[in-house]
Amino acid sequence: MIIGIPKEIMRGERRVAATAETVAAMIDDGATVLVERSAGEGALIPDERYVASGARVVDDPAALYAAADVILKVKEPLYNESLGCHEIELMRPGQTLITFIHPASPANHQMVREMAARGITGLTLDGVPRISRAQSMDALTSMSTCAGYKGMLMAASDLSRFMPQIFSAAGSIAPSRALIIGAGVAGLQAIATAKRLGAAVFAADIRPAAAEQARSLGARIIETGVPEDVAVGQGGYANPLPERWLLREREALAEAVAGMDVVFCSALVPGRLAPVLITDEMVAAMTPGSVIVDISIDQGGNCAATVPGERAQRHGVIVEGIKNIPGMLPVSSTFMFAKNVLSLLRYLTHDGKIALDRSDEIVSGILTTCDGEIVHAGAREAMGLK
Ligand code: NAI
Repeated sequence: MIIGIPKEIMRGERRVAATAETVAAMIDDGATVLVERSAGEGALIPDERYVASGARVVDDPAALYAAADVILKVKEPLYNESLGCHEIELMRPGQTLITFIHPASPANHQMVREMAARGITGLTLDGVPRISRAQSMDALTSMSTCAGYKGMLMAASDLSRFMPQIFSAAGSIAPSRALIIGAGVAGLQAIATAKRLGAAVFAADIRPAAAEQARSLGARIIETGVPEDVAVGQGGYANPLPERWLLREREALAEAVAGMDVVFCSALVPGRLAPVLITDEMVAAMTPGSVIVDISIDQGGNCAATVPGERAQRHGVIVEGIKNIPGMLPVSSTFMFAKNVLSLLRYLTHDGKIALDRSDEIVSGILTTCDGEIVHAGAREAMGLK
């Protein structure tokens, strides 16, 4: 099996799908690995490290795509400006692509249609189910861990005051107050980071189990006022809230939000648009100089004032809508991502080839296009296919 690792082409993307260590493991498993020249540059992995692991470094991405049976990438296929064609056009029937495809997102529908039309087997990492046997393959959880940590550091850096309590000869300064809304993977990491930075930490989540985990990390809980039978659905996941309960939740959060120096937004129901929990009026009620970091922006954001991809100011409040936060931590996020992809690759490989058992929960969760068809349930629903 020939595995190809192209250099990521999204502007500012510094991650890469394999490290020298995971390349060595693939070669130990019997694969041949091609790495595009300088693919690891952003994650501080020089070509020589890949070569020392047994990979072949290739200059021409088109040649790499043409030779590989499996392409491992971080980001969905994009238009390659320097080649003047889309990455999908570099692929051929029967080739396998493993990456974050986000196939349900309308922005990717055309690309997913083209993947199917070209006969590419597309496997999306955002479809890995959050079950214990898939934990080692769960790149989405890894990236949320990065976003929780780095997002809270961004908040601390944007603040014009200390995070921790400071005792000085000039007098003592109270710690900043940080509220984390949505205590899932990213939120819990943000809570832990804010605690380490010495902030007074508060958390809100509609799932009592998530609130309990936040409490165990030392956060004080802000009640959302949403009853458990409304908040929690099948499998213990959060339910999308009907508008009247969203209104109740916003009312319940409004007073707390007004008193915060940092509000970290990471509330999401998987596969849905993010609930808007902070209105423009709530931003206006915050103290100028406070910071909102809205990491749910890829799903529309939890704050009405967030500008996608931008660091904006609204009513004197800094509102961070920066996307791709894991890309700002490229060494650690690449380390985690590459390990997750290696685990998935090994799980899918039998006798030196990728063999997909479509009745398997992990395979059916990630399989996006296969045999010329779009098979991903969320993508089909979003595209209006039966
Ligand atoms: P998760 O599913 O683990 O956590 C989401 C939490 O939100 C859950 O605990 C859920 O109960 C809670 N929630 C849902 N509705 C709520 C409501 N109405 N009020 C309060 N809490 C509510 O998700 P994860 O992995 O932590 O991701 C969180 C967000 O971070 C997602 O939107 C994800 O796309 C985003 N993310 C952003 C990145 C970036 O670079 N901007 C990178 C990684 C993740």
